[in-house]
Amino acid sequence: MKFFLDTADIEEIKRAKALGILDGLTTNPSLVSKTGRKFSELLPELVTLVDGPISAEVIATDTAGMIKEAEALAAVAPNIVIKIPLIPDGLVATRVLKSKGIKTNVTLCFNALQALLAAKAGATYVSPFIGRLDDIGHVGMDVVSDIKTIFTNYKFTTQIIVASIRHPLHVLEAALIGADIATIPFSVFDKLVSHPLTDKGLKRFLDDWKKVPR
Ligand code: E4P
Repeated sequence: MKFFLDTADIEEIKRAKALGILDGLTTNPSLVSKTGRKFSELLPELVTLVDGPISAEVIATDTAGMIKEAEALAAVAPNIVIKIPLIPDGLVATRVLKSKGIKTNVTLCFNALQALLAAKAGATYVSPFIGRLDDIGHVGMDVVSDIKTIFTNYKFTTQIIVASIRHPLHVLEAALIGADIATIPFSVFDKLVSHPLTDKGLKRFLDDWKKVPR
């Protein structure tokens, strides 16, 4: 399973990257807006930091506008993936971008049928938003499970990015289902490695080692 970081914050990226297990990055307009920076200046900097796929989202909501923005974003670096909203114009744009060899991450997916449409349109990735479904009383992870079944049934190569992750349990559940990728906010990424029994156990080993004759 691959781990992407869901952020546009340079410091968070540097800290996550230092662990050596970062496979890629996803951004969105809200995350970029939090940085207070121009995306045209930020994106080339992100490219220097992350080796794997970096998702950059279009703002246009019509097919022609999405394709124009996608071509400009894709020209920044070969590892840029274009985030396209899961709306009818987005599906058409996804198909056109595939024919041009531009990778897409179809975003704002909230059910398995939407994911099926994205896969049929030729999306490289599809991003079901789990936390936002949980927030309104649905079991978001059920959508991931259904998508996995459908993609397996029909041998789609579209990869599932589990998005809108709120806590480590979401990452565990995504891995158990066999999702390809989890895109994780730094606050959750930071918690994945920690366990109080690990800290307690390490302290005991180090204390006991002091009693070993030298
Ligand atoms: C995914 O690519 C999105 O950027 C992200 O996971 C959305 O998460 P949120 O619901 O926490 O905003």
